[in-house]
Amino acid sequence: MASTHGAPEVLVASNRGPVSYAVGDDGTIEAKRGGGGLVSALSAVDDKLWVCAALGDGDREAVRRGVGEPGVRMLDIDPDVHTAAYNDIANSVLWFVHHMLYQTPLEPVFDAEFRERWEAYRTYNRAFAEALAQEAGEGAAVLVQDYHLALVPGMLRSLRPDLRIGHFSHTPWAPVEYFRMLPDAIADELLDGMLGADRLGFLTRRWADAFERCAQGRLGDTRVSVYGLGADADFLRARAQEADVEERMAALREQIGDGRQAIVRVDRTELSKNIVRGMHAYRELLDTRPEWRERVVHVAFAYPSRQDLAVYREYTAEVQRVADQINSAYGTAGWTPVVLHVKDDFARSLAAYRLADVALVNPIRDGMNLVAKEVPVVSDDGCVLVLSREAGAWEELAEDAISVNPYDVSGTADALHEALSMPEGERAERTKRLAVAATALPPQQWFLEQLEALRG
Ligand code: F6P
Repeated sequence: MASTHGAPEVLVASNRGPVSYAVGDDGTIEAKRGGGGLVSALSAVDDKLWVCAALGDGDREAVRRGVGEPGVRMLDIDPDVHTAAYNDIANSVLWFVHHMLYQTPLEPVFDAEFRERWEAYRTYNRAFAEALAQEAGEGAAVLVQDYHLALVPGMLRSLRPDLRIGHFSHTPWAPVEYFRMLPDAIADELLDGMLGADRLGFLTRRWADAFERCAQGRLGDTRVSVYGLGADADFLRARAQEADVEERMAALREQIGDGRQAIVRVDRTELSKNIVRGMHAYRELLDTRPEWRERVVHVAFAYPSRQDLAVYREYTAEVQRVADQINSAYGTAGWTPVVLHVKDDFARSLAAYRLADVALVNPIRDGMNLVAKEVPVVSDDGCVLVLSREAGAWEELAEDAISVNPYDVSGTADALHEALSMPEGERAERTKRLAVAATALPPQQWFLEQLEALRG
């Protein structure tokens, strides 16, 4: 697939790359390879270049020393520019807009400081566009990922009109009224940036429609399509049988206790995941239906995310506080109602997926939510999925899940009761059907279909 002069014909751009570096005590650089959907998706193509940002000191040191992996180019963007673009614009503005997270009486505030940060977001996007323009072979396909890099397609189009450019959004897209909270010139710049692409991809029809409504009248030749990323069944099923997963299942069973059901949730601790309301619903279940006390445990894994942002740190502390409060109000000598783990451990997540009786996936808004798709794939005996209608995955899984309005705590408590009460046979049947729906478009196929469409 290499072009005649050796320049790559497939390029991918994302803020976070497939590898990160740390400087060890002895001064040597250690590489850590990441996992996740995009890494697995990209293994479908051999000859490609992945352009990403250096995220921490270790990454920057690696770039400076010329340490790197074949097929990866890490950009050492000025740390202040990166912080302003990533923390202050991408995660504090664009993420908030698309997930509708603002408490609007006081925020957002689009003032002079915001505009300075927006300038950094432009600079950061330009660094990607220039690197891609420099690296890409003639007529190459470039697949740009996510809200961090929304301006890249337009910038790259003007540098390299010969390229085939795609952009994929892994988040929801905001409704037009919410999107238009952004200052007009900035909203338009974002749309025009994305519309520099030949093709735009979204996870569900709902997000694609929302984008089209925002972009009404300016779509031009850009095509908008939906690619509903699915779970990687082969990988998950094999990985879930490994010894470390078995070990963690034994430890979790001990924490849960004999004869009890487990309501499992696994999330990065993001504001959109609704972990706190999930716990309030669990407390209401214990309160209004005392027959469940001592018979159920809420196993909640809330892994750290974006801890540079104060609002994320506060949310993480609130999750811990509510869990402690439930345990002190309802716990007994032999029963801990909430088992909360905050240290990221993939093997333990798989163990929880395997033994869950009920999976609670109740985001207030989510691009897809792969946990909802992964649990049915690896569940040992069947697991009832309580699923927010605001998760992208709901479009594909609604029929065999129990749907909830994520803001309705009492409704979620009722859904948990219904889930815990479901007969085993029905659980198993629904889980089988959920697993089929969840694996309809595995990561590699998800990527190859986009690539084919882009090459037309
Ligand atoms: O889950 C949505 C998503 O936009 C992913 O596409 C992306 O990898 C991630 O969020 C970004 O998270 P982080 O800020 O930790 O890199």
